[in-house]
Amino acid sequence: MNTQRSATLTVDGKGVDLPIYSGAIGPEVIDIRQLYAKTGMFTFDPGFMSTAACKSSITYIDGDAGVLLYRGYPIEQLAHQCDFLEVAYLILKGELPNPEQKKEFDKIIQSHTMVHEQLTRFYSGFRRDAHPMAVMVGVVGALSAFYHDAMDISDQYHRDISAHRLIAKLPTIVAMAYKYNAGQPFMYPRNDLSYTANFMHMMFGTPCEKYEPNPVLVRALDRILILHADHEQNASTSTVRLAGSSGANPFACISSGIACLWGPAHGGANEACLNMLEEIGDVSRVGEYIKRAKDKNDSFKLMGFGHRVYKNFDPRAKLMRETCHEVLNELGLHDDRLFKLAVALEKIALEDEYFVSKKLYPNVDFYSGIVQRALGIPVKLFTGIFALARTVGWIAQWNEMISDPEQKIGRPRQLFTGAEKREVPPMSKR
Ligand code: SDX
Repeated sequence: MNTQRSATLTVDGKGVDLPIYSGAIGPEVIDIRQLYAKTGMFTFDPGFMSTAACKSSITYIDGDAGVLLYRGYPIEQLAHQCDFLEVAYLILKGELPNPEQKKEFDKIIQSHTMVHEQLTRFYSGFRRDAHPMAVMVGVVGALSAFYHDAMDISDQYHRDISAHRLIAKLPTIVAMAYKYNAGQPFMYPRNDLSYTANFMHMMFGTPCEKYEPNPVLVRALDRILILHADHEQNASTSTVRLAGSSGANPFACISSGIACLWGPAHGGANEACLNMLEEIGDVSRVGEYIKRAKDKNDSFKLMGFGHRVYKNFDPRAKLMRETCHEVLNELGLHDDRLFKLAVALEKIALEDEYFVSKKLYPNVDFYSGIVQRALGIPVKLFTGIFALARTVGWIAQWNEMISDPEQKIGRPRQLFTGAEKREVPPMSKR
């Protein structure tokens, strides 16, 4: 970070100079770390509308231009030219792998795809109809009970092997949650398959016959994972960073990220969006729901629309819609009822003054549910797939924070609006 100038804040006639830093690209920041010491005041920014909580070199978003870069590479190029493990390598290490590095990384991840056999016992403690995200929060957190050999977060080797274990095991854990819910036997990973083909094998294969994943569908799901891999300092990534700032182990931190992602305002929106489309049911009812979304007295929001950062289009939504076309055509579902409804809803919303004025555009979650449903993934597992993909972003952001020598525990303050000091009255006087 470099600084050439400062901002002067005047409080009660007294000027306070605050350094301004510029990064590589994007908005500059005003360093307020000395503000409290110099003024006795805090800044106030619930929801972090104007706050940079850290410096990072992993992902850059320009919300007005609809730009998303992973380590400088545009998401459109990565989605079309790379596979998920190449992108995972890029996000983790900062550069795309060469053929030798890719071969070695694929092999490393493949060597960690199995989970400890004891871990399978955790599933039987859940009801069969438990939400997969509840299972994932528990099982991923429980991984920290199995890897005492590599939990020294100050040791780069331990951080690397934890990252490899999480990237490799999340597909196994998600597929096991699906199988447990379906009452089918768990499928062991197949190391002769690619990362995403193996995930589909563990999801849809059975011991009764050999399962050969459809390469077009594997490519589509692999692209969905790429689109969800990282996204700057979103709510779940900020949760992982805050949990990690206390020195908590990486498995517990990723579990906290899964818990946060589950919310319908965040990663749970793909499940909520598909449920919304099912509820709307027909294009003739779109107007009724657009009206509800605009009604201040109605808590209904158009799921899959709007974004804190993208005030133009979400570049991932365009790629997701393209993938949707590919999958539905491959499966002969181009007349899919929900897809046609989603296209109609998108068109109507984008022509509506309310959505235009508030810059509400489809986000990554708007089409992802339709694609995943076409792939045979149950609605309740959509956010689990999002968590599977985002694990590489979370662990890369966690690693970046832990290896930052300036890193401190995150401890925000507050504007206190409660009762001032008072004496406890005896019971007889309450
Ligand atoms: C993800 O941060 C990330 O990067 C997240 C993510 C990632 O990859 O990690 O991109 C993934 O979480 C995508 C977002 C998925 N969520 C949804 O699709 C749920 C529906 N969207 C909304 O809940 C909302 O748009 C948010 C949560 C996404 C953004 O909320 P903000 O930035 O806090 O904006 P806001 O709620 O203050 O909305 C601004 C205005 C409000 O109206 P006013 O108070 O100004 O009158 O727009 C309205 C909102 O009521 N609005 C909507 C709306 N989204 C915002 N109105 C109707 N339908 C919507 N979807």
